[in-house]
Amino acid sequence: MATEFDTNNSQEWEYIYIEGDTSWDLGRPTPVFVDIAKNYKPANICILGCGHGYDAIMFSERGFNVTAVDFAPSPINFINKKALDLSLSINTIQENIFSLTPEYNNQFDYILEQTCFCAINPDNRKKYHNLVSNLLKPGGLIIGLWYPLDKKLSDGGPAFGVSENEIKMLFNHGWEILEERFPENSVEARAGREKLIIFKRV
Ligand SMILES: C[S@@+](CC[C@H](N)C(=O)[O-])C[C@H]1O[C@@H](n2cnc3c(N)ncnc32)[C@H](O)[C@@H]1O
Repeated sequence: MATEFDTNNSQEWEYIYIEGDTSWDLGRPTPVFVDIAKNYKPANICILGCGHGYDAIMFSERGFNVTAVDFAPSPINFINKKALDLSLSINTIQENIFSLTPEYNNQFDYILEQTCFCAINPDNRKKYHNLVSNLLKPGGLIIGLWYPLDKKLSDGGPAFGVSENEIKMLFNHGWEILEERFPENSVEARAGREKLIIFKRV
């Protein structure tokens, strides 16, 4: 992707969807998250930068109360149509995640992170942390597949490189690590390049 890509411009993301150039799109629910959905109690979950929302649909089918946020119109329209077809109730929000209003603060038991953190401008990472802190209820979890661990920030993006150390420094004070592992069922292209780390807001 060209370095001049403006990560904060929804139209630029929308253009990728229109072009069908969505290399990140798994086209199905994420196997790691399917296991999470089976093992966690259904509750309020927010998916930031949800894309086509296969996980949003999967969590909704499993009884979770899903809010899915993306500022590009195409993926939000896609989820709305799927939800209608499947008679699911998913709260979709076409909005910049950094513009979510305080009404969403303290509303969520879980936040799902997959390739949103690496998609935003790295200058906004602290802001992302603050957003997650605000959205989660006390005791809430951010369930993240942190990716790509094999890239450096200096390599450019998106996807912008992520390091395990950076994530742990960011979610440091006021958080505890509930689980961390390299999943055995990462999709092939991401095996060893993503790590599941679940932080609990304490
Ligand atoms: C790399 S894609 C990942 C999509 C999805 N998480 C997945 O794994 O398929 C990043 C997504 O985040 C959205 N996005 C990027 N920055 C955003 C922002 N500031 N607010 C809302 N959505 C954003 C883009 O429109 C895009 O759909």
